[in-house]
Amino acid sequence: MTGPSAGSGGREGGGRPPVGLRPDGPRLLVCGHTNLDYIGEVERFPEPNTSIEMVSQKRYFGGTGANISRSAARLGAAVRLYSLVGGDFPADYKEALEEDGVDLSGLVVVEGALTPTCLILSDRNHDQIAIINQGPMASPERAVLPPGLLDDVGVVHISTGRPEHYIRMVEEAVQRGIPVFLDPAQELHYVYSPEMFARMLSLSTGLFCNESEMSRALGYLGLETEEDLAGRVALLVVTRKDRGSTVYYDPESGLFDCVLPGGDHWCSGCRRVRLDIPLVAAERVVDTTGAGDAYRGGFYAAWARDLDVWKSALFASAAASFVVEAKGPQMSLPTWDMVKARLAERGWSVG
Ligand SMILES: Nc1ncnc2c1ncn2[C@@H]1O[C@H](COP(=O)(O)OP(=O)(O)OP(=O)(O)O)[C@@H](O)[C@H]1O
Ligand SMILES: [Mg+2]
Repeated sequence: MTGPSAGSGGREGGGRPPVGLRPDGPRLLVCGHTNLDYIGEVERFPEPNTSIEMVSQKRYFGGTGANISRSAARLGAAVRLYSLVGGDFPADYKEALEEDGVDLSGLVVVEGALTPTCLILSDRNHDQIAIINQGPMASPERAVLPPGLLDDVGVVHISTGRPEHYIRMVEEAVQRGIPVFLDPAQELHYVYSPEMFARMLSLSTGLFCNESEMSRALGYLGLETEEDLAGRVALLVVTRKDRGSTVYYDPESGLFDCVLPGGDHWCSGCRRVRLDIPLVAAERVVDTTGAGDAYRGGFYAAWARDLDVWKSALFASAAASFVVEAKGPQMSLPTWDMVKARLAERGWSVG
């Protein structure tokens, strides 16, 4: 290991992390979808102009914005959700978010519109066909940003949704000194242009993505390697499904405590520390949808408790391991104690 030594890059003046705990801490503002997902099981997909019977049908709460918010809030972080839903937004979904402590002052109900809805058909081979109705998220220019959206906010997390709609708010956040973390998720492939991605990234302190999104990001930016991209942001998180995740961070940024466990690596080309974060195995794997969102929620919640970046990412990995154990991205979100206990069982202590 060469490069910065342990403890050299802590937050300036040993200050608090930019995101805090409920009820009064500086909030994490999560911008993204709040969806209703209807999953229907069929024996086989129907031919055009024919009908078949549904074997079972179930409604799930979903959407990246709501998934991340609910995960982080249940784990104790102070979270505000900015999302557009329709007049049909169901009371039980609203109550579920509120019960976990998500601040819904940024939830905009667009009357006359339908809440973003995903219709998923799953056949006996577990192949799926999905049809998404974006609802008001497809034409956000009709919605007005709620006043005070950035008040008391310590971190902005931009997940799915039109970047053209978010960019002015992101610019204002940057002007106010609020770090922005970009996470376009699957929309990187079909909503973002290379130019818009480059512009949003230039305003961002960090980027979250999975491996296919990483390939797309490199293509958009004309870069060769993950390290090249890591050099452009203070935090880069790449999740790798059941192979764990990798975190690159800039120990000089003043945002992350620099604690260097075994397995870290100083990347001299990009001047970032690379941490290889192990997978925390689940008890059983039922459905991995939403694992990435739970990971993000876990990361912020751990950071809010002032854990260093290694422990925050390990905690994130453990939080995600619960979500794969049930169908639906919000059906098995863990509490802080549940994650801590699982890590302790596996021989890790996060303090
Ligand atoms: N089978 C699994 N068992 C345990 N943990 C998992 C599993 N799959 C994923 N995870 C955890 O979740 C993290 C994020 O998963 P993944 O890379 O699949 O995200 P993603 O592709 O963004 O998923 P999604 O968009 O569905 O939320 C992984 O880095 C890992 O820590
Ligand atoms: Mg994802």
